[in-house]
Amino acid sequence: MQILLDAATIQSRIRELARQIESDYPVPEEIHMVCVLKGGFVFMSDLVRSMTARVTLDFIAVSSYGAGTKSSGEVRFQKDLDTSLEGRHVIVVEDIVDTGLTLKYLQEILRSRAPKSLKTACLLSKPSRRKVEVSVEYIGFTIEDKFVVGYGLDYGEKYRNLPHIAVLQE
Ligand code: PRP
Repeated sequence: MQILLDAATIQSRIRELARQIESDYPVPEEIHMVCVLKGGFVFMSDLVRSMTARVTLDFIAVSSYGAGTKSSGEVRFQKDLDTSLEGRHVIVVEDIVDTGLTLKYLQEILRSRAPKSLKTACLLSKPSRRKVEVSVEYIGFTIEDKFVVGYGLDYGEKYRNLPHIAVLQE
């Protein structure tokens, strides 16, 4: 596997994103981070540890892919949030935005729950794959259309634990 983004590069970009997010929400506003499982768990974990105590967390699970590498466009909702979003500054935390279908669907559902604001942070974006327009305020890295694994991203549930992002050669 060829390394696309090494661990140090990812960590330094995440510290920048954390600083940018904190400066966008004036103290003492609380920031409620919603991690999209499973892929978002590593990014979420590093991002929140670069931030101050104004952060609360929750988790949601949706699934848009089968076991392979191609998007079916189908989105399944598998685990809902534990707490209400009403009146809170919410940031959705995702590992990757590809076609945008998952995020579009999620943002609509979450917006209907009356958050004070709703933004999205994605570690990776593949703009060439977009099928729907979707807003992502915080993007770690824009990448080409290659199948990537590691740092939360899987192939058949493997490689999520890699500390870097690698290109999977098929
Ligand atoms: C991935 C990723 C996003 C979605 C992006 O999740 O985490 O949720 O696909 O693709 P899209 O922009 O084409 O909709 P996946 O369904 O692979 O689930 P996982 O996070 O549990 O691996």
